[in-house]
Amino acid sequence: MYKLNSKNKANGLDLLRSLKDKTIKTAFFDPQYRGVLDKLKYGNEGKGRGKARCDLPQMDEDTIKAFIKEIDRVLKPSGYLFLWVDKFHLCNGIGVLGWLNDTEFNLVDMIVWDKCKIGMGYRSRRKSEYLVVLQKSPVKAKACWSDHAIPDVWQEKVEKVHPHSKPIELQKRLIAATTVEGDIVLDPASGGVFSI
Ligand SMILES: C[S@@+](CC[C@H](N)C(=O)[O-])C[C@H]1O[C@@H](n2cnc3c(N)ncnc32)[C@H](O)[C@@H]1O
Repeated sequence: MYKLNSKNKANGLDLLRSLKDKTIKTAFFDPQYRGVLDKLKYGNEGKGRGKARCDLPQMDEDTIKAFIKEIDRVLKPSGYLFLWVDKFHLCNGIGVLGWLNDTEFNLVDMIVWDKCKIGMGYRSRRKSEYLVVLQKSPVKAKACWSDHAIPDVWQEKVEKVHPHSKPIELQKRLIAATTVEGDIVLDPASGGVFSI
């Protein structure tokens, strides 16, 4: 029902539930956060680019937790989950760590994405997003990560095809570092064409 190497238009949770335990090598998860929109209201929510963001289906905390729990189930031992986190969720770290309860995930690294362009902010203006690196037990570094030249601050400007487009070159490097040919990579909320 779901296709490999193409975009599937589906609820990511249904896709995850269709997968067998321990079959995926690397996963990316880029939740459609509601928290940041609740917290940061610049008066442009629902207008212009703000409208494109608001029109996307939001994920509440329970939905995010359900995705992470399913990703934990389908990942192979020592597999990686690259979780995109915004400043609000990073600074409220307890929330993020709470999502890992009852999973085999260990927080092993973090990469800062420098977007090379400046956004909004009440005090400092946002120019970065954060990629939390989670590894399923057992934690292994050398045996499961082949590229040791990836910096933990990554500069990449992206052409937006989606209001939340993430850096493709960084994701390519991470996939190459954590997989070998034949492994399956999963991105259950990749955006673009999904609507509920
Ligand atoms: C932050 S965006 C992902 C952007 C993507 N990483 C990129 O680089 O373009 C999150 C996406 O998740 C989608 N989404 C929300 N709920 C979903 C669900 N239950 N299943 C699958 N996708 C969902 C939203 O429509 C949104 O497009």
